[in-house]
Amino acid sequence: MPELPPRSAPVITIDGPTASGKGSVADGVAAALGFHVLDSGALYRLTALDAERLGIDLDDEAELAACALALEPTFTSSRIFMDDRDVTDEIRAERIGNLASAIAPFPALRAALLDRQRAFRRPPGLVADGRDMGTVVFPRAELKVFLVADVEARAGRRHRQLIERGATADLDMLKTALHERDARDANREVAPLVAAPDAITIDSSHLGLDEVIAAVLELARAKGVAGGAR
Ligand code: DC
Repeated sequence: MPELPPRSAPVITIDGPTASGKGSVADGVAAALGFHVLDSGALYRLTALDAERLGIDLDDEAELAACALALEPTFTSSRIFMDDRDVTDEIRAERIGNLASAIAPFPALRAALLDRQRAFRRPPGLVADGRDMGTVVFPRAELKVFLVADVEARAGRRHRQLIERGATADLDMLKTALHERDARDANREVAPLVAAPDAITIDSSHLGLDEVIAAVLELARAKGVAGGAR
């Protein structure tokens, strides 16, 4: 499906590496503007979770694509359900994130998720976060942000998140895993993690969440992207 941009539904894309804070920034920007949110990583994670549950061979591109097409998740404002099962926390596990990253290079799988992602574009607007939101999924987005942060800052954030959730976490192992995931996401042939030529890069290493949200909202205003709320 081509990207059909109803002017009534502007899109702000926020791409970047894992643990750069994309999700929290996307949520904050969307709340301030009254926009919808697409957490595209959740779709890759849901596919990974379901593929694992079904025992699908992680090299079987066609089966993985079929699995992605068949997903019937329900997104509420804060939870994600699959067949009435709350999988919000399960898909956030590092294991599922790594599995998602491992299957994400398959073109057929990415194609299977394309229309599903574009369907999130509805009035009054959308904030979409991921790796290829500005390059592939919404190439004509009104505002494209590429959010980066150094590995120290990202590993520290991920470590705090895991501890808050009651999980155990080793900072050095997290750093190594982040490096590996970055390399895999950035070096794949299809839709690699790369800033769109017209994206504006924000380095959040030394910024608080509110400061990053404010910076994105300022850029949105400058681009004439107006929200309905607050
Ligand atoms: O953003 P995340 O950590 O939830 O994403 C998990 C994995 O899914 C990520 O390592 C690569 C893949 N992904 C992708 O390939 N394209 C996207 N737009 C979003 C995620």
